[in-house]
Amino acid sequence: MESLLCRLLVMGATLAMAHACPKYCTCQNLSESLGTLCPAKGLLFVPPDIDRSTVELRLGGNYILRITQQDFANMTDLVDLTLSRNTIGYLQPFSFGDLETLRSLHLDNNRLTELGPDDLRGLVNLQHLILNNNQLGRVHDKALEDLAPALEDLDLSFNNLPSLPWASVRRMVNLHQLSLDHNLLDFIPEGTFSDLERLARLDLTSNRLRKLPPDTIFARAQDSPVLTTPYAPQLSLSLGGNPLHCNCEMLWLRRLERDDDLETCASPPTLKGRYFWYVREDEFTCTPPLITQHTHRILVLEGQTASLRCEASGDPAPAIHWISPDDRLLGNSSRTTLYPNGTLGIGITTSKDYGAFTCIAANVAGESTASVEVSIIQLPHLSNGTGQPAQPKSRLSDITGTSRVTKGAPKGQAPEKVVSVAEVTAESALVRWTVSATAPKVKMYQLQYNCSDDEVLIYRTPLHYAAMQEPQRGRNPREASIT
Ligand SMILES: *[C@@H]1O[C@H](CO)[C@@H](O)[C@H](O)[C@H]1NC(C)=O
Ligand SMILES: *[C@@H]1O[C@H](CO)[C@@H](O)[C@H](O)[C@H]1NC(C)=O
Ligand SMILES: *[C@@H]1O[C@H](CO)[C@@H](O)[C@H](O)[C@H]1NC(C)=O
Ligand SMILES: *[C@@H]1O[C@H](CO)[C@@H](O)[C@H](O)[C@H]1NC(C)=O
Ligand SMILES: *[C@@H]1O[C@H](CO)[C@@H](O)[C@H](O)[C@H]1NC(C)=O
Ligand SMILES: *[C@@H]1O[C@H](CO)[C@@H](O)[C@H](O)[C@H]1NC(C)=O
Repeated sequence: MESLLCRLLVMGATLAMAHACPKYCTCQNLSESLGTLCPAKGLLFVPPDIDRSTVELRLGGNYILRITQQDFANMTDLVDLTLSRNTIGYLQPFSFGDLETLRSLHLDNNRLTELGPDDLRGLVNLQHLILNNNQLGRVHDKALEDLAPALEDLDLSFNNLPSLPWASVRRMVNLHQLSLDHNLLDFIPEGTFSDLERLARLDLTSNRLRKLPPDTIFARAQDSPVLTTPYAPQLSLSLGGNPLHCNCEMLWLRRLERDDDLETCASPPTLKGRYFWYVREDEFTCTPPLITQHTHRILVLEGQTASLRCEASGDPAPAIHWISPDDRLLGNSSRTTLYPNGTLGIGITTSKDYGAFTCIAANVAGESTASVEVSIIQLPHLSNGTGQPAQPKSRLSDITGTSRVTKGAPKGQAPEKVVSVAEVTAESALVRWTVSATAPKVKMYQLQYNCSDDEVLIYRTPLHYAAMQEPQRGRNPREASIT
């Protein structure tokens, strides 16, 4: 009793000594560390006169709307910052930039809608980041960059997040607790948790996950404590309230020895609504791909677009790949687009596209292929001598008149005189050409050029023809580096 009184007296004395304490706040200078306490005082902004040497700052339960760079400037001793239960909707980038020693940041129950790349910049020693019950719909890929290595506790529950910067999560090697429940997450990349050896709690309840990628750390999420050590503790994994797709990809989870959770299967239809842990292992099946729709053959005028369709069924949904006639795996490029529905779009066809394209549908259960025959109707070429147009492989149309036109060039005139290029700049070139009077009637011209950005010749149809003999100017950023 005597010692308590004594302490109260001492405290009273130091409180009396404290100076520079903001109006409405209480300041404590206990054991040489200053605490500034301003909870639920009706504050509309962070008081500008807070002692910069404060170690603990409590601003919870106010009506603060925004955080600016001045608010916490120079608070290099701050360890604990509470901003819970305000109405914060905006964080100015670099507002926490001076808080190198901050260990704990509570921003829960606010109105944040997104975290920008520099909003949390500088928090290199932060251990607890509490952001639950905001309206976060987006966390920028770089937002958690600085704090990833030191972070121990990350709470992002009760937000609207469809995704996270998973590459940063992967680097949170000191993480103990990760609360991501009650969000809109629908995908977690494989390997995200592989290095999180200290993780003891992972809450993914009530999201939109159809599957969870297998990971070695989930071995610690079993009832048997065999695989756990003090360094790698038992993992509490919560996955209930997700629309789990119970196929062979989720068999690994079913094989874990645990039954503590309320997981149910949302699909396939035969397993809908079944309690996950009661579904037999042999019911977790996948089906190999079956190509259900595809283009069989297609005839395209050289330089025009082509769309090759390929659709497949299977469980899990197969990925579609395309192989060109010269055996290259195609991806998105300046000339080709691989749409999510499996269709391969070729923006500008060239004679190289002549032949059989192969569509491959693949999933974990197998693969299936289909062949698409592409015939290119080659057009007549006039050239200044660069490049050697291939002879047409298709004789399917009478538009194909290469030989006639080239032969139709006036006798005795050298071929390089037919087309000339001048005024070549980074973005444009002036193309001139002449057509012999004996040439067949021409409906359309295309310009073809070789650009260092692309591996093949590029075709452009110029927009205007002033007159047949008039110089034509083709403009397009693609012409940036005509070689
Ligand atoms: C808190 O106490 C320390 C040492 O006792 C002193 O140097 C400092 O000025 C005090 N701070 C305030 C705001 O009173
Ligand atoms: C922070 O410190 C710098 C340099 O000492 C000073 O110029 C600036 O005014 C300080 N800012 C605040 C908000 O105290
Ligand atoms: C290719 O581009 C399309 C359309 O822009 C896009 O939807 C698709 O995801 C891209 N595919 C890859 C593999 O990047
Ligand atoms: C596939 O998607 C592309 C781009 O959205 C679209 O143009 C094309 O018509 C689609 N193809 C099929 C077969 O649905
Ligand atoms: C064709 O035109 C290009 C661009 O001006 C030029 O670099 C090249 O030398 C020309 N070729 C011939 C054979 O004249
Ligand atoms: C186009 O240029 C590239 C590199 O500059 C070259 O490898 C290729 O053979 C050229 N293609 C034609 C048809 O001239």
